[in-house]
Amino acid sequence: MDQSDVGNDIEKILLTSEDLGKKLDEMAARIDEDYAGRDLLLVGVLKGAVMVMADLSRRLHHPIAMDWMAVSSYGSGTKSSGVVRILKDLDTDLTGRNVLIVEDIIDSGLTLSWLVSNLRSRGPASVEIASMLRKPDAAQADVEVKYLGYDIPNEFVVGFGLDYAENYRNLPFVATLAPHVYGG
Ligand code: XMP
Ligand code: MG
Repeated sequence: MDQSDVGNDIEKILLTSEDLGKKLDEMAARIDEDYAGRDLLLVGVLKGAVMVMADLSRRLHHPIAMDWMAVSSYGSGTKSSGVVRILKDLDTDLTGRNVLIVEDIIDSGLTLSWLVSNLRSRGPASVEIASMLRKPDAAQADVEVKYLGYDIPNEFVVGFGLDYAENYRNLPFVATLAPHVYGG
């Protein structure tokens, strides 16, 4: 796959790099204010959250620690199974920590609602969520997001960390894919 193929694969750009950057500025400013004087541990959910984590954490003035988890609720396809498995757990003891989960997208919300209760059971001082995207029309579980980028329509999107079969994560924007990508 080369760059021109990627261009053909994109159907519509929903959020530009500027849109994402503007929202990241706002989220970072709020997080700095809310966590002033408190310790903060950012927990990124691999792999989709890598771009949000990198771009959000570099905008924070607040000192942070960073850790990563990998969970799986999707295969290489586009539908949630509702079954969550820990593929890689945290290295950090959460006792007494202020945890901010950093996510790329809340779709059904099943992954995050499971993750929040899992992390809450480990004795942290607090657990909150920051997510760049959310699909309100896909919600199956109630998830309270403290820091949200954008609500988007219930369509499969790629870019800014989000993949289709591990491709397109590096796109600096959020876009839908042309039907031929799925059709083979
Ligand atoms: P749920 O449904 O549990 O989904 O909220 C959470 C995880 O599913 C992935 N996901 C997507 N990945 N485009 C993607 O590339 C999408 O439109 C999409 N919707 C959900 C994502 O990894 C998320 O963390
Ligand atoms: Mg994914």
